[in-house]
Amino acid sequence: MRNLFVAIIAGMTIWMCAPEARAQIDVVTSAGGKPGFISSANCAKCHLDIHTYWKDSLHAGALSDNIFQAAFMLALKENGDGVREICLDCHAPTTTVTNDIMMKLPLTAEAITCDFCHRISSLNLEGKQAKVTLTTGAEKYGPLRAGKSADSHPSVQSSLFIDSKICATCHQWNNPQGVAVFDTYREWLNGPYAAKGVNCQSCHMPLVEGAIVTGKGREERQMINSHNLSGGHSIVQVASAGKVRVVSVSQVPGGLHAVVEVSNAGSGHMIPTGIPSRALVLEVQLVDSKGVMVESDEHKFERVILDKDHNPLTNDADIILNGAIVSKDNRIPPGGSVQIPFDFAASPRQRYLVRATLHYSYRPLLLKEEEINIGMGSDSKSP
Ligand code: HEC
Ligand code: HEC
Ligand code: HEC
Ligand code: HEC
Ligand code: HEC
Repeated sequence: MRNLFVAIIAGMTIWMCAPEARAQIDVVTSAGGKPGFISSANCAKCHLDIHTYWKDSLHAGALSDNIFQAAFMLALKENGDGVREICLDCHAPTTTVTNDIMMKLPLTAEAITCDFCHRISSLNLEGKQAKVTLTTGAEKYGPLRAGKSADSHPSVQSSLFIDSKICATCHQWNNPQGVAVFDTYREWLNGPYAAKGVNCQSCHMPLVEGAIVTGKGREERQMINSHNLSGGHSIVQVASAGKVRVVSVSQVPGGLHAVVEVSNAGSGHMIPTGIPSRALVLEVQLVDSKGVMVESDEHKFERVILDKDHNPLTNDADIILNGAIVSKDNRIPPGGSVQIPFDFAASPRQRYLVRATLHYSYRPLLLKEEEINIGMGSDSKSP
């Protein structure tokens, strides 16, 4: 089984050869051979502003990222060297062509590099894997226009670049057990944003100031699409996504009854999305008139994935490879909201305040375990 299927074309001819001996991917090569990927350093000579955004992105860091490295090492240790290709297909996709699974080439270290995305000439998402067709030619595919850059490389305009499908190549994937570990594209497709024509790029690659082509006085257009792709690691983007509101607090025999609403206001897919070790945590506290917290309760929005014997899986690598059963999924869909009831024991003669706080929590396995916790807002109300 493969998760990415790369076909390479030269001109309009597709030649099918015997699949190479990769466990996860069959590479279909053309008569003209393989594309000679060009380093992002070369692109930076003319596209410096775009390169500056990209080099700090998690796409550029998809291999060097500590969190990935720790998970990758664990995956190899526990599941054997054969899983290398599975991880590298998405985290260093040029390896699907170069077969550099021992990560010796400098190109591999560029992870999700310019020349992988901008060689994509077509995609087929219908099968079990994304089938990616890459060009071996010098032309770059992009959203702008054809032909203009005669001094550097020809350009081909492609609507794929303003389509969420190009992102689904890696942000939608069923593991060998058939669990959609990465389900972001489908969550988006089933939500309100797809219908409104708001694609992944609208939120993750917004227009920012910069020149498409830099140098030699060519800074003519002052806007570029941000290639930084801020997501779960961007505090601003996470904080804008979830909203919390204390809807009501009422006295009931023996205590207080509170209803708290959490909504997914700004995210184009479930929150949280992607890798299942991310959770949204709603913490609700009962505070007395002196400001002292007397009781607290918690509600977690998350997707829990178990192995085939119903054992919990505790790290990213294990979930990706061995997840087999989705035992819980109460995440909040895009545009949706949920109301959660809370009951507290409280004396009828005291005055209280109910305070609700929403956190985004992510507990990746690092060499030293670290927790990332981002406050998303809070609200409070008295009976
Ligand atoms: C010698 C300068 C130069 C180099 C090096 C260069 N480009 Fe370009 N590129 C241009 C120019 C000029 C344009 C046309 C800009 C326009 O249409 O306004 C362009 C356009 C593009 C476009 C837009 C195509 C479209 O029509 O949508 C993409 C994508 C692109 N380049 C990718 C790359 C990548 C990837 C690399 C590195 C492998 C690269 N370029 C290297 C000069 C360069
Ligand atoms: C070739 C595979 C691939 C493609 C194509 C791809 N991504 Fe990614 N993306 C990844 C990987 C792998 C990561 C995780 C990198 C890491 O943290 O190790 C990632 C991370 C991200 C993140 C998370 C950043 C964060 O802060 O958590 C966002 C957002 C994102 N991608 C959006 C997009 C969008 C939008 C597109 C389409 C324009 C896209 N991606 C296309 C593989 C891909
Ligand atoms: C994950 C795939 C991906 C990677 C990696 C990537 N791009 Fe892009 N690029 C896109 C998409 C998608 C667009 C179109 C965004 C839109 O129009 O909404 C784009 C647009 C462009 C454009 C057209 C101008 C613009 O701002 O829209 C240029 C030029 C370009 N990219 C160059 C580069 C260079 C240079 C790199 C590396 C430094 C790079 N890209 C890396 C996907 C990628
Ligand atoms: C309406 C805006 C919007 C759209 C459309 C959108 N996203 Fe997001 N995305 C967000 C926000 C806000 C966050 C941060 C909160 C969260 O994790 O959901 C985010 C987070 C992410 C993350 C990081 C997950 C994490 O928790 O670290 C990834 C990956 C991602 N988006 C990919 C995509 C892809 C792929 C698409 C298209 C299929 C897409 N997004 C469409 C707004 C959007
Ligand atoms: C189908 C593509 C795909 C495959 C295969 C894949 N990943 Fe990823 N990985 C992603 C994407 C996309 C993200 C971005 C975040 C998200 O969606 O949660 C990611 C994120 C991660 C993260 C979180 C990184 C961070 O900075 O938060 C880790 C760790 C990770 N992957 C490890 C692995 C390991 C180990 C393997 C192999 C067993 C693997 N991945 C296979 C696409 C893939």
